[in-house]
Amino acid sequence: TSLSHIRNFSIIAHIDHGKSTLADRLIQFTGGLTDREMTEQVLDNMDIERERGITIKAQTVRLNYTAKDGETYELSLMDTPGHVDFAYEVSRSLAACEGALLVVDAAQGVEAQTLANVYQSIEHDHEIVPVINKIDLPAAEPEKVRAEIEEIIGIDASEAVLSSAKSGIGIEDILEAIVTKIPPPSGDRDAPLKAMLVDSWYDPYLGVVILVRVIDGVLKKGMQVKFMAGGTQHLIDRTGCFRPKIEQVAEIGPGEIGFITAQIKEVAHAKVGDTITTVKGGAEKALAGFKEVQSVVFCGLFPVDAADFEKLRESIGKLRLNDASFSFEMETSAALGQGFRCGFLGLLHLEIIQERLSREYDLDLITTAPSVVYKMEMTDGSIKYLHNPADMPDPVKIRAIEEPWIKAVIYCPDEYLGGILKLCQDRRGVQTDLTYVGGRAQMTYELPLNEVVFDFYDRLKSISRGYASFDYEQIGTQVGQLVKMNILVNAEPVDALSMIVHRDAAEARGRHICERMKDLIPRHMFKIPVQASIGGKVIARETIAAMRKDVTAKCYGGDISRKKKLLEKQKKGKKKMREYGNVSIPQEAFIAALRMG
Ligand code: GTP
Repeated sequence: TSLSHIRNFSIIAHIDHGKSTLADRLIQFTGGLTDREMTEQVLDNMDIERERGITIKAQTVRLNYTAKDGETYELSLMDTPGHVDFAYEVSRSLAACEGALLVVDAAQGVEAQTLANVYQSIEHDHEIVPVINKIDLPAAEPEKVRAEIEEIIGIDASEAVLSSAKSGIGIEDILEAIVTKIPPPSGDRDAPLKAMLVDSWYDPYLGVVILVRVIDGVLKKGMQVKFMAGGTQHLIDRTGCFRPKIEQVAEIGPGEIGFITAQIKEVAHAKVGDTITTVKGGAEKALAGFKEVQSVVFCGLFPVDAADFEKLRESIGKLRLNDASFSFEMETSAALGQGFRCGFLGLLHLEIIQERLSREYDLDLITTAPSVVYKMEMTDGSIKYLHNPADMPDPVKIRAIEEPWIKAVIYCPDEYLGGILKLCQDRRGVQTDLTYVGGRAQMTYELPLNEVVFDFYDRLKSISRGYASFDYEQIGTQVGQLVKMNILVNAEPVDALSMIVHRDAAEARGRHICERMKDLIPRHMFKIPVQASIGGKVIARETIAAMRKDVTAKCYGGDISRKKKLLEKQKKGKKKMREYGNVSIPQEAFIAALRMG
């Protein structure tokens, strides 16, 4: 397709404003889907994604639309992941487009999350086409929302399209706006091949599938290409697109988005942001913006039942085939036995992997305290990196410990500002900027990553009732007063719970964990002390009282079946416990203890 007939765009929308419904409508209108297929939402296709309302892997569909000018256009709709953990993937997806539809709910108006996404899109020089959706709702106030878009976002909304994705109103107007407002891509067909690797995933039938945006040149089957950052060479054996069904195409030309396969076995060999060029006569310079993905959060994953170790190894290996941003190596813990030390992009990424392991692979797991990577300057002058609090060297051998810091930008409606400022302060944040844009605040903070990985994002969402948005980037390391805190249950250190904390925060954190553990560990026949200690000095303590009677005593001996049920429940509960010396700690305790209230 010639450049003038190509349009590449993404959709920006707050959760629930109708992005998926609209995408499906666009596909249906242009003939990609039958009515029956429409009943299934196409774009979010993973269970976990659907449940959490987030997109993990970008999906792209190519639509052919014959416009009112009589010409047929090739439209590529790029779906983007919706979480900060995947910010780099989002930036590459946006870099592959020239414009975006900004979908705003006619009854809800502009939400903070939308704002952050629009700014990102503007940063990529996108043309933004406002769409006011759900005009069928009785509470719809399209004119008010139109004014809001202009005032808050600062773009012209006089020609915003009014639509109802649900009833199918305004769909053609949206397609027309895409064609007339969003600029076509530029590129040179005769220049050496330059294609950006936008995303990659593992498909059981095709192997690794690579989503690309060709900048210059042409991609064809049979070509010998190289990945410039990855340093590997591959023979392209398929070029195609999704409509949303898979379709092979003869070539992917300049400005086009499509997929290739090349007998690649692991996604780790297809790095997001890499430049693909030909082996012979290829481009000299790679595209700007490539970044090697790096795990920022590490934790141990151990099977509850030691006999599941092999199964865990196999399952983790399979997941890794499909997710290059997740890393792992074997780890042995005194208390938990054999498991893996795994690295993730963030806490949500960790939870997704954990959930997939338990759901898809039926594994009961214990997750140890998430940790960031600390840089240690040793007294002998050497530099060491600490991924696991359990490996912390003797403190007398450490001259200084540096921790990673981030720069965070948070947007929220004014009313939640107080709560959020307090949260940032509690997490050792240093405010560097605070501005107001039409009833909304934009805060910039520098924060230690360590304080953010646990539950910062969840707390932020709950304080702001979901309205705050959060974006961050790493800005290097700073020396901090960091110490290793151990948690002792019945005088035995539980290595899975040891963590690196800031000295000033240690006592509060230690007290909190002890309180949590007190609630989470069931009573035993004896008294159990739970303590937090730093270098042998106890800084917090709780005691779990001894159990007085058998649990079934509660039933007054009457109802036998009830008694049986209770015993069964107890037995089942036991399976998910971990023995520490002579104390059983339930699986949930490990992760729950680490959440700060
Ligand atoms: P996430 O996938 O959670 O990000 O949401 P989304 O933005 O993709 O929204 P989705 O398309 O899933 O729509 C959210 C809800 O709004 C669904 O219940 C839709 O049926 C409904 N909805 C979407 N468009 C319209 C519309 O035009 N009118 C009305 N009344 N409801 C709509």
